[in-house]
Amino acid sequence: MATFNEKKTCSQRMENFGRFVWNPDTSEFMGRTFAKWVYISLYYAAFYVIMVGIFALSIYSLMQTLSPYVPDYQDELKSPGVTLRPDPYGDEVIELFYNMADNKTYLPLVTSLCEFLPVYNKSVQEKMNANCSDHTRISCAHQNENTKSCQFTTDMLGNCSWEHDHTFGYKSGKPCLFIKMNRIINFVPGNKTAPLVNCSAENGELGDVQYYPGNDTYGTIGLQYFPYCGKKMQPNYTNPLVAVKLLNPTLNKELSVVCKVSGHGITSDNPHDPYEGKVSFKLKIENKPLSSSAN
Ligand SMILES: *[C@@H]1O[C@H](CO)[C@@H](O)[C@H](O)[C@H]1NC(C)=O
Ligand SMILES: *[C@@H]1O[C@H](CO)[C@@H](O)[C@H](O)[C@H]1NC(C)=O
Ligand SMILES: *[C@@H]1O[C@H](CO)[C@@H](O)[C@H](O)[C@H]1NC(C)=O
Ligand SMILES: *[C@@H]1O[C@H](CO)[C@@H](O)[C@H](O)[C@H]1NC(C)=O
Ligand SMILES: *[C@@H]1O[C@H](CO)[C@@H](O)[C@H](O)[C@H]1NC(C)=O
Ligand SMILES: *[C@@H]1O[C@H](CO)[C@@H](O)[C@H](O)[C@H]1NC(C)=O
Ligand SMILES: *[C@@H]1O[C@H](CO)[C@@H](O)[C@H](O)[C@H]1NC(C)=O
Ligand SMILES: *[C@@H]1O[C@H](CO)[C@@H](O)[C@H](O)[C@H]1NC(C)=O
Repeated sequence: MATFNEKKTCSQRMENFGRFVWNPDTSEFMGRTFAKWVYISLYYAAFYVIMVGIFALSIYSLMQTLSPYVPDYQDELKSPGVTLRPDPYGDEVIELFYNMADNKTYLPLVTSLCEFLPVYNKSVQEKMNANCSDHTRISCAHQNENTKSCQFTTDMLGNCSWEHDHTFGYKSGKPCLFIKMNRIINFVPGNKTAPLVNCSAENGELGDVQYYPGNDTYGTIGLQYFPYCGKKMQPNYTNPLVAVKLLNPTLNKELSVVCKVSGHGITSDNPHDPYEGKVSFKLKIENKPLSSSAN
């Protein structure tokens, strides 16, 4: 390679490059003859076809092992989370503060409920779901795309329905809160007894509570809503609710309220997930008449 370090003029370099691109002596294009180019192109074409084939085959065989009904990798948590409505701002820390004398302060809360509840309208539910009065239990083992879910209708919300009170009690300082347990596919809580909901604040400051469905001690989440078999099997599933009506909460004071769902298979003491099995929030209901001069 003695020639390698030789100084070459620019035109010599250009000539060398030109010969590399097309060498008329050997009929080579870019260092290969036409036949070799055809050969190498076919080689790479075949190579990539086989690579794509192997990739497609492995994806296909993986898909064969997946059920369309149940996700193979569910969230590792086994105990459901609990959420609260109204939650107009979707915040991590839920603060329900309002002044019952000032409708502007509770309008966002009432509006958020009005947006959330229409799916439970009786006529909507009757179209979507079964009334489950025959107590048939759903089994996720029968992978049927048209599995009926059970109705949950606003008449089960008793005095917390919009029909009973268009402000859900916010105006009168007896607000309704709605508790909802998150769905977990194939999860059946309670070991044959319905999970219970219980809300409390320190020193009994929450006052008397009425639960719908339920009584004045506990709300109940009916077992007919379990298990949930996934979106493909139960496209119309709607989460059951428990409405919590506060009948005489302490006014003008910030309360720390905890609503807990209890039942077999539901844990609420996970230090890493404060919303597992329970929901905590701050509640402050003021009753400060707006002075007409202070507009
Ligand atoms: C709120 O209250 C004011 C005065 O009491 C009333 O004029 C207004 O119409 C109310 N707004 C709503 C949305 O109810
Ligand atoms: C429920 O739906 C019916 C008809 O679809 C409607 O007339 C009724 O006002 C609705 N009720 C509520 C509370 O939205
Ligand atoms: C879901 O609801 C629609 C009406 O909204 C109904 O036509 C359909 O049959 C329902 N599907 C199931 C599986 O119940
Ligand atoms: C539930 O549906 C069944 C038939 O599907 C009907 O006979 C029964 O009256 C319904 N019950 C209620 C409470 O609507
Ligand atoms: C609903 O509220 C009314 C008063 O507004 C009361 O008489 C009735 O007992 C309540 N119903 C239930 C089921 O708590
Ligand atoms: C469910 O409750 C029954 C008694 O009612 C008990 O024998 C059984 O062990 C319980 N099952 C589980 C999984 O705890
Ligand atoms: C509700 O739960 C609280 C603790 O969160 C407990 O002190 C209270 O006794 C429970 N109430 C009922 C009726 O079980
Ligand atoms: C309220 O309901 C719970 C659960 O269903 C039950 O254990 C309790 O005895 C009921 N309390 C009253 C006062 O009816």
